[in-house]
Amino acid sequence: MFDLENIPPQADGIFYPIAVSRLDKKDNKLFVLRASVVKKGQKRKTVNCEQSYIPYARQWIDEDDIQAVVEVLRSDWLTQGPKVREFEQAFAGYVGAKFAVAVTSGTAALHAAMYAAGIGPGDEVIVPPMTFVATANSVVFQEGTPVFADVEPDTLLVDPNEVEAKITPRTKAIVAVDYAGQPCDYDSLQAIARKHGLILIADACHALGAEYKGKRVGTLADLTVFSFHPVKHITTGEGGMITTDDAELAERMRLFRNHGITRDQSKFARINGKIQNPMLHAPCSMPFYYEMLDLGFNYRMTDLQSALGMSQLKKIDMFIRKRREIANYYNQAFKGLEDHITLPPGDNEEHAWHLYVIQLKRGNRDSVFRKLRENGIGVNVHYIPVYLQPYYQGLGYEKGICPHSEEYFARAITLPLYPAMKTSDMERVVEKVCGILREYDD
Ligand SMILES: Cc1ncc(COP(=O)(O)O)c(C=O)c1O
Repeated sequence: MFDLENIPPQADGIFYPIAVSRLDKKDNKLFVLRASVVKKGQKRKTVNCEQSYIPYARQWIDEDDIQAVVEVLRSDWLTQGPKVREFEQAFAGYVGAKFAVAVTSGTAALHAAMYAAGIGPGDEVIVPPMTFVATANSVVFQEGTPVFADVEPDTLLVDPNEVEAKITPRTKAIVAVDYAGQPCDYDSLQAIARKHGLILIADACHALGAEYKGKRVGTLADLTVFSFHPVKHITTGEGGMITTDDAELAERMRLFRNHGITRDQSKFARINGKIQNPMLHAPCSMPFYYEMLDLGFNYRMTDLQSALGMSQLKKIDMFIRKRREIANYYNQAFKGLEDHITLPPGDNEEHAWHLYVIQLKRGNRDSVFRKLRENGIGVNVHYIPVYLQPYYQGLGYEKGICPHSEEYFARAITLPLYPAMKTSDMERVVEKVCGILREYDD
């Protein structure tokens, strides 16, 4: 057991740490940044133990969002109902796509996209390793094989030349990850996909609101996947969406998110041309009748989540504007640090700025990271290249297959960036980053 440090002196109850900055094994101390507090007869509360702790990301929830959810709680529908359809339509309208299919998470959205793309055993899907594990996992869910293609060192986006070099007769799809919120080189990726007859899937979990040559991310690939995790541009708690212009792909994903079940007579299996399933001895015209046409999942988004999503979507322009302002502020403030860090790439007008990641040119990343955390700056690292994870090592992927991603990972630090950041938070991040990096001056 460790002594908990930083617990507010006036607070009482039982404290469960949920974020810590440091573990001091010598003195047996755990430095707590945030804790969940349980007190007899009272609701569980979260307390900030260091007032100055600035997380790397967090949601923005206001009264309108709360009211939207409360309204649904008072209605007849809690699970997938009319609010889901409204949210899908509003979302498709925002990105400019014909169809949007809501699901329970970005991971479920990736899985549904792989299913719709027809990925199955033996199929290869090209993915960059500079992403969250879910991107590659969704290929494995369908018993396909992820093939890792490295990122370009200057853009950190998947390199189209690498993609083309990794194509084999078994390749079925390419996944473009709009890392940090910058759109990939879609002209090149679309041309490669067309030339080789492949499906292009965009993992745009970082890029809601980003633009590429005047077009919003959401229509630049055959299927585009979004996440509504609280750190993302808009949140539904957990949630995800896939957009497409292809009615058939949208229909496949709707079936997949609901156990592969349909009540649509036109889809029912036909035996000798008749819509009747003698195995069930059930007349298909009965209102209770449905058919399971394929193996699917329960990936249904709820009306509660969709009401929150609709309310959040109304604020998306403000969210993106604030994200761009914070990125601009950092870009200006770090101008004198060229000897120490590389600033993140990307055109601010097109970038959706999910993440602001600096790369260290000197100094040890882990010690800079630790010092920033100790100073209440909630830095993070995006990402450990996916194939370095023990699971993928166990599948036989070797270290060194994507050297640019590995080099970047060793030097990257994600700084706090979220719309609710105050100017004083931004100033504090800059002051701490500059102060700590200057310790490495010759
Ligand atoms: C690039 C990327 N892909 C997929 C996901 C998975 O999304 P979710 O957490 O909503 O399942 C995330 C979320 O962290 C992500 O950042």
